[in-house]
Amino acid sequence: MYVCNCNGLTKRQVREAIEKRPRDVEAVYRYHDCQPQCGRCVPEVREMLAEARETEAA
Ligand code: FES
Repeated sequence: MYVCNCNGLTKRQVREAIEKRPRDVEAVYRYHDCQPQCGRCVPEVREMLAEARETEAA
C-alpha cells in the first residue's frame, strides 16, 4: 500500500526508514533519496513517526 504516490513509497518503506532513522519527517524521505513533492503524504508519515515514538516510549 502506497503512502506517498509521488515518490512511490509504500507503508513498509516508510516503516523501514523510521526504524533506521526515526528523527523527523524529512529524514524518512532522505532515507529513500527523495523529498516530499505534493506534501499530501506528510501528515501520514508524521503520524507513523509519532506512533513509533509512542511505542518506543512505552
Ligand atoms: S504523495 Fe507524497 S509527496 Fe505527494
